[in-house]
Amino acid sequence: MKIGTPLSPSATKVMLLGCGELGKEVIIALQRFGVEVIAVDRYKNAPGHQVAHRSYVINMNDGTALKNLIEQERPDYVVPEIEAIATDILIGIEADNIATVIPKARATQLTMNREGIRRLAAEDLALQTSNYEFVESLEELTQAIENSIGYPCIVKPVMSSSGKGQSQISKPEDIKTAWDQAISGGRVNTTRIIVEQKIEFDYEITLLTVRALDAQDNIKTYFCDPIGHKQVNGDYVESWQPQAMSDVALKKAQHIAHTVTDNLSGKGLFGVEFFVKDDEVWFSEVSPRPHDTGMVTMITQRQNEFELHARALLGLPVDVSLLTPGASAVIYGAMDKTGISYNNIDKALNIPNTDIRLFGKPEAFIKRRMGVALAAAADIDIARENAKKSASIVTTSI
Ligand SMILES: Nc1ncnc2c1ncn2[C@@H]1O[C@H](COP(=O)(O)OP(=O)(O)OP(=O)(O)O)[C@@H](O)[C@H]1O
Ligand SMILES: [Mg+2]
Repeated sequence: MKIGTPLSPSATKVMLLGCGELGKEVIIALQRFGVEVIAVDRYKNAPGHQVAHRSYVINMNDGTALKNLIEQERPDYVVPEIEAIATDILIGIEADNIATVIPKARATQLTMNREGIRRLAAEDLALQTSNYEFVESLEELTQAIENSIGYPCIVKPVMSSSGKGQSQISKPEDIKTAWDQAISGGRVNTTRIIVEQKIEFDYEITLLTVRALDAQDNIKTYFCDPIGHKQVNGDYVESWQPQAMSDVALKKAQHIAHTVTDNLSGKGLFGVEFFVKDDEVWFSEVSPRPHDTGMVTMITQRQNEFELHARALLGLPVDVSLLTPGASAVIYGAMDKTGISYNNIDKALNIPNTDIRLFGKPEAFIKRRMGVALAAAADIDIARENAKKSASIVTTSI
């Protein structure tokens, strides 16, 4: 495996589609190997734009714009960081051997829509998931709940992320509001939604799973230690690693993650989400790319999830070992303003064994993730306490 010189004809070129905080870290990992990186996002000065060799602003749902840019730049690898992409163009790019899509164009297509990945996991691969139905009207939703799914249940637009348009239905009177929210919260203008049985789990995890080449050049599957996390309104606020699990539950989760990622194929890191109760494990969804809850690995692992993704996609060996238990806690914008400042960073970093990442997003919203506090400690509870404390000390101002 060889890497060329950036900005020269021999360059190894990677194009990131989506350059938020996760893409930014993948770019930094690639830069360290002397890879030439082209960063693409829908707005100017996105976090990843600030650390790449070149950057572009396009609507990645616009197939023509996306295809033209890939043909103009001719990257060796195209690495999607977000779901909202014209994935049919990626299928064509891969089929015509124009670039390698990470992990595979089909994986990006199946996971951009909840229906693709859920039917694959539950119906084709016969893995345990919550009971679910896809519906297209208020009447169908009501029928699905009354005839099969029951209460409480959760509805989500088929195309959405970070909990957008998601809500819980506990009684018949909640159905209409949940329907209206799902319809207005989706990324795409469709009335198709998933309604799923609510799993009363003990805890939920992300199992970072890496498909990378071993010393014999065969693709091997590696599992990081499980990451526990806390979600509020479908969005991650805190994560920690390792999450204590029974051996039986961990083996089940690894088996499911192996089965799903084998099917999605290709090289790269995946974030496989599970709900766990005692020894029972339900597959929830998978990101064919680094996962937000995996930011904790920036303090816990020898190679963090971004470095693992970068190495795997380039065909380099990986090391998933844990160095220390640790935790992450999100730092929010706390205001709707552009060009904000972050105060008390020094005080936040005076908490032992902590670190902070500020993403450099040009525009803040009250609930926008603008940074993350990281803490390492032998005891997970102390790590969580310290990460939360560190995040809470950081205030924002204009
Ligand atoms: N069937 C369910 N039973 C119990 N909790 C659920 C269920 N579905 C979703 N949740 C809760 O909502 C969270 C977000 O759901 P999900 O991961 O499906 O949405 P998302 O919008 O794709 O979120 P993200 O993009 O942040 O991963 C889950 O992590 C879990 O806490
Ligand atoms: Mg999720």
